[in-house]
Amino acid sequence: MSDRPGPIGIFDSGYGGLTVFKEIKALLPEYDYLYLGDNARTPYGTRSLEIVHRYTLECVDYLFDQGCRLIILACNTASAMALRTIQQRDLDHRPATDRVLGILRPTTEIIGSLTRSGHIGLFATEGTVNAGSYVIEAAKFAPEVTVHQQACPLWVPLVENDEIGSIAADELVKKYTNALIEKAPEMDAVLLACTHYPLLIDTIRKHLPERIEIVSQGELTAQSLKDYLQRHSALEALCSKSSRTVYQTTGDAEKFDVQATRFFGETVQSTEIDIAANRG
Ligand code: DGL
Repeated sequence: MSDRPGPIGIFDSGYGGLTVFKEIKALLPEYDYLYLGDNARTPYGTRSLEIVHRYTLECVDYLFDQGCRLIILACNTASAMALRTIQQRDLDHRPATDRVLGILRPTTEIIGSLTRSGHIGLFATEGTVNAGSYVIEAAKFAPEVTVHQQACPLWVPLVENDEIGSIAADELVKKYTNALIEKAPEMDAVLLACTHYPLLIDTIRKHLPERIEIVSQGELTAQSLKDYLQRHSALEALCSKSSRTVYQTTGDAEKFDVQATRFFGETVQSTEIDIAANRG
């Protein structure tokens, strides 16, 4: 039914999207949400373009099938590697109002205001870095800014495997912060361009000089969604409003609940879903 309102779908490859969803829910508490973490197939950041597109599209199709009318890819890797193809090629059979939005635009739009030196560092997954989307998009809005990218291939598994405060985490964060500082000594800000990374922020802070500001995407994305809904009243009317949130994971629900409750700061009770069954 193309006129039936549904929850806003929030998608991430795992737990990372919760750092964004937390801010969205705080700013826009009246809406219903369906959070889907593809924990069974995380990480996405080390996979090929074809695989990230396929996995993301399967999750997007699933969320539409659950009644969502608007889906936010709260995952930089999926946004950088799959969003454009999904928007341009995969939504033709959906009602015209149905939308999938990514997470890059809200940050790249204001990237010029995040740095005074004109040099900004960016931590992201290999997939996001190789896609080059931040460099390309930032150049449109702030051509005077140089974006220095650093891929951090092992940070997502640290988060997913609950090793945030471990010695391994300390070593791996130090390795990539040092590499970025060496590459870009003039940078005065660093963007955490992977939704998992705010969960490592204490360790990242410890290994970066005080003068370097750390920017997370949660609040920026939430504000941008609020503005978007104000500008798109037809779609806004299709977002149901009874302040209800459902959490789903393709992984183990019990594990998701323990980790997500800690990360999210309130009790999370998820259910395990089978994406393959939806495909069939
Ligand atoms: N949380 C995702 C992001 O923002 C990536 C995690 C992964 O590699 O699966 O990029």
